[in-house]
Amino acid sequence: MCGIVAVIGSRDAAPLLLEGLKQLEYRGYDSAGLATIEFSSQASNNGSLTCLRAGGKLVNLNSLVDRDGAPGQLGIGHTRWATHGKPEEKNAHPHRDSSGGLAVVQNGIIENHRYLRKELESEGVSFLSDTDTEVIPHLIARQLQLSLAEGMSPSGSILVEAVRKVSLELKGAYALAVIWDKTPESLVVARRQAPLLIGLGEGEFLCASDTPALAGFTRTILPMEDGEVALLTPLGIELYDIRGERQQRSPSLLNGLEDVVTKRNFRHFMLKEIYEQPEKAKLWVDRHLPYGLPASSPIAYPFENSFYEGIERIQILACGTSRHAGMVGAYLLEQFAGIPTSVFYASEFRYSAPPLAPNTLTIGVTQSGETADTLAALAMESRRRKSHGNPAFAPRQLGITNRSESSIARQVPNILDIGSGIEVGVAATKTFLGQLLAFYGLALTFASRRKSRSVEEITTMANELRNLPSQLFSLIEKHDQLSISLSQMFSETQNVIFLGRGINYPIALEGALKLKEISYIHAEGYPAGEMKHGPIALLEKRVPVISIATPGVVFEKVLSNAQEAKARDAKLIGVAPNGLAEEVFDALLPIPEVSEWMSPLFSVIPMQLLSYHIAANRGLDIDQPRNLAKSVTVE
Ligand code: G6P
Repeated sequence: MCGIVAVIGSRDAAPLLLEGLKQLEYRGYDSAGLATIEFSSQASNNGSLTCLRAGGKLVNLNSLVDRDGAPGQLGIGHTRWATHGKPEEKNAHPHRDSSGGLAVVQNGIIENHRYLRKELESEGVSFLSDTDTEVIPHLIARQLQLSLAEGMSPSGSILVEAVRKVSLELKGAYALAVIWDKTPESLVVARRQAPLLIGLGEGEFLCASDTPALAGFTRTILPMEDGEVALLTPLGIELYDIRGERQQRSPSLLNGLEDVVTKRNFRHFMLKEIYEQPEKAKLWVDRHLPYGLPASSPIAYPFENSFYEGIERIQILACGTSRHAGMVGAYLLEQFAGIPTSVFYASEFRYSAPPLAPNTLTIGVTQSGETADTLAALAMESRRRKSHGNPAFAPRQLGITNRSESSIARQVPNILDIGSGIEVGVAATKTFLGQLLAFYGLALTFASRRKSRSVEEITTMANELRNLPSQLFSLIEKHDQLSISLSQMFSETQNVIFLGRGINYPIALEGALKLKEISYIHAEGYPAGEMKHGPIALLEKRVPVISIATPGVVFEKVLSNAQEAKARDAKLIGVAPNGLAEEVFDALLPIPEVSEWMSPLFSVIPMQLLSYHIAANRGLDIDQPRNLAKSVTVE
């Protein structure tokens, strides 16, 4: 989940690396570093390697580069999210071999690093960091020594071969980039189960762990496949599989990155992204819910009939906010479309999946398309189903993602692109709404195909969805103002309880997650009926309770649960329509009176805006909260 950028070309590498890293900072911002190589002597063909690293955010590395300079047209850069070793300068990448002439940046986790480190230490290698990565430059240097001892001269070929051989020794998921001062015209990159893309620029080749880092320089990309190693020189790209066989593939074009990353006039990306939701909802409606489709097929999704046929159950795998979207999805798929559906933490499913059931659709939900646990859970499920042999148990998979060029799109045969546009704020907002809408579309389609709902019910939901963009627009403006004033009462708050039931229980979880992520206030989301079985012990006047109470089967029940909280002196904030139960609440965050099915699309807005303003009042780093990263590519 760190970010990697690398370049080889004809202009100075350092500014390019810094620009690329800026676009990747959402992947981690504990420390950053870069290494560049400049020809020092044409005669010897050696280069001189500069390595600069700084703790904290990228601005610190920028200052260091300004002060000390990093000459050369070949370079690698890294922005870190600490896994092994504290976020200190000594653990920042690049890491080097004992000579200091070979530098490596890595994203991922080397699971057998302890074993490899001991082996290298027994050979006399000294380690300077606490990271798992530092074994890699030493292992590559050891391989290179062997080749040189056999009489080979330094060359890109021996470097790429050394990296390939070392890849075979490494366990875990990783992407890495390597430079060596003896081969100043060679950049070697490799990946296994962590994303890495090569970019073909004008007069230069680049490599990065995610598209935003490349988009400013080129639109032509070559995603690397699992296990591949590549040699990039000023003359071209040589791609090899893990056995050393040369691979040939054509590059593809990047689309849809036009709105990459300006805050416009907003103070934070998160606020901008909250405000983008009506526009993104409108795009979804225009694309998938055009008027005139038959009730038997109410949604324009890019799937054949056979995709929907014979599905008897659904399982949803996801992490974080995406799992909350999956929970709303499960409610819709079960209660509206009548298909038994289960939701799993992908990280749990990987190691404790339920017994196989036939005719099951597995849906992976991941906005980034790169979350390691979600990808691994999907891959594991696919493997065990393939090995079963009975066609009823064959894998049937769908990915719901915001990044149709990401790893999930290469792993899973069917993809629903939520089309929310790049989300920069670490706390997901517009992509959550996009994921919810993807599930509304699926629920409508399954309900109409299975006739679990009448034509009228399906038409009503479709029309309600068509009205959503305009309703969201005014709701966001109103709640932005309301949340500014309400957030004042949270200046000393340390604990908050969020309550919801039924289809709004996941929204209570999402409200609590948003608040924790960006304000560092402890928050719990609970199904309202469960409060009396434990969390009620926490309640007193300093613990606000935010209760989502929308009309539907559990409306009165939620109000009773809210009263129980009020009786314990808790400050009670209602997320409910005007005019239904004002007297119950100390403060009201009003949402439109819509059908129960539709309510999560509205109740989530006050959750996002209240969390945002509470964190803003505290002066926190909302777009890059401490310890978090937007894309979690390690297990
Ligand atoms: C991280 C992010 C969350 C996100 C989760 C899953 O924890 O900080 O905002 O919900 O990963 O990410 P995904 O890309 O799979 O949706």
